[in-house]
Amino acid sequence: MQMETLVALCKRRGFLFQSSEIYGGLNGFWDYGPLGVELKRNIREAWWWDNVLAHNELVPPPGAPSSYQMVGLDSTIIMHPQVWKCSGHYDLFHDYMVDCRETKKRYRYDQVQGRWVSYKERRVFVATEAVGDEALADTEHKALKFFGLRPKEAHELIWESPLVSLTTVEDLSLVLAPDAKSLGTLTPPREFNLMFKTYVGALSGEEGAAYLRPETAQGIFVNFKNVLDSTRVKIPFGIAQIGKSFRNEITPRYFTFRSREFEQMEIEFFCRPETSRAWYEYWRKRRYQWYIDLGLAGERLRLRDHTPEELSHYSCGTADVEYAFPFLAPGDFGELEGIAHRGDFDLRSHMEGKLIRDGDKLVVELNADGQPKYRGSGRDLSYFDEETRERFIPHVIEPSAGADRAALAFLCEAYAEDTVPDEKGNPTQRVVLRLHPRLAPIKVAVFPLVKKDGMPEIAQSIYASLKPYVNCFYDEKGAVGRRYRRQDEVGTPYCITVDSQTLTDNTVTVRDRDSLKQWRIRVDDCVEVIKGLISGKQRPPEQD
Ligand code: GAP
Repeated sequence: MQMETLVALCKRRGFLFQSSEIYGGLNGFWDYGPLGVELKRNIREAWWWDNVLAHNELVPPPGAPSSYQMVGLDSTIIMHPQVWKCSGHYDLFHDYMVDCRETKKRYRYDQVQGRWVSYKERRVFVATEAVGDEALADTEHKALKFFGLRPKEAHELIWESPLVSLTTVEDLSLVLAPDAKSLGTLTPPREFNLMFKTYVGALSGEEGAAYLRPETAQGIFVNFKNVLDSTRVKIPFGIAQIGKSFRNEITPRYFTFRSREFEQMEIEFFCRPETSRAWYEYWRKRRYQWYIDLGLAGERLRLRDHTPEELSHYSCGTADVEYAFPFLAPGDFGELEGIAHRGDFDLRSHMEGKLIRDGDKLVVELNADGQPKYRGSGRDLSYFDEETRERFIPHVIEPSAGADRAALAFLCEAYAEDTVPDEKGNPTQRVVLRLHPRLAPIKVAVFPLVKKDGMPEIAQSIYASLKPYVNCFYDEKGAVGRRYRRQDEVGTPYCITVDSQTLTDNTVTVRDRDSLKQWRIRVDDCVEVIKGLISGKQRPPEQD
């Protein structure tokens, strides 16, 4: 599937629109349309239900080291600026960028790739932002243009390297930037903090400076004591939060994959230090399985452990759930969720001050006068275990997922084109979104076969009976085959049709989106059957 095809479908059918489109759009910001908002809400609700509400705290789930508790939280987007100083975001949450003096474009230093090429004693690094085969074709095209060669003279170019990152190039004066015509137009790399800055209250000076949160996690850490004191949770337990996060990404791209405003679904799971490895293993597997259960295919999904060089400043172990998005080069995967073992870094930083690594240890960072660089809250964020009579700072396992990336992966995976018989049995092409029924924006569509003989009235009363339970859609316009196609295209798993037989025996047909099976059920059973099918408790009957 070409990504442009999915992007076009998302716009045409109201899943996703570019933000502020009538003013030309704003790069890195996306709006969810009427169907997109339902899809994302279903993802959030599936996540909340599966991790928080449906969690039985009396029984350990399969693979869990013990039973545990889960509670929720909804903290603010703007928090005290000291939160970001102690979390490390103020000092460390940056990317390196390079600017092109010729085109005035800005690139993320590590995301520009290119190849070394020579022609008649000149050696040039041809940089590109394309991916996969397109990147190779792009670099060749640009090299030919740069050296004034024709395509049939391509054999005169001597390629010295496969595609490598710009970060490996020491002499930027030899780089032909992605959109430039002359050499050496890129500035040296500069740090760029990704947090959006704003000002609170009437003060526009530094006293009023604040930041939009770049992750929901810190809201959980700073409320750790409040949750402990206001509930009866005992370690091990997790606090879950869903909410918007903001990052001023240098190069937002790939549709919603890298946006500047996005939604996170995060759990901070607090446990005893000696059990933290076992809990890390548990969450790694559990979160990976969640995506498979909701329909992502095993071969396009992987769980990848970070190498020591990749680990964040706080982490002593991280694994990513990754998906082979169609916009990436073949063999490349994009992150859906990170599951990190954060040790006691966060709670200790918010107690003592910003921590840094010193060899194997974490120590409070000091400024030149030997004073803590940023003071923590000074509050005691330790935990007292009443059974063992021990006091300790809990260790944290953090499964951190992106709701927008999950929505994009589910859409990519669901998209298919196939040939199906039309009403007369002739083969016809259809586009279908094979979304899991829990995620599908519309669960069932109800049609009268024709707009006469009382069929619309019966169909409307079925629609009314379903509406309190599931998102349901009524349509009586056009040929029934076209109505089916329109529902297939937005992923509606079931359609109910009222036909002439309904008038005699009070039954309707149910059509299954994926198998195209049709079977009859009683009008009075519609609600129970549809509820059963959507929840997975019932399946379409076996047919030849
Ligand atoms: N608290 C840890 C944390 O925020 P992260 O890996 O930076 O970790 C977690 O982000 C998840 O948030 C990612 O796996 C991804 O799904 C989502 N995410 C991060 N940046 C994003 C962006 N610019 N656009 C869309 N989703 C993003």
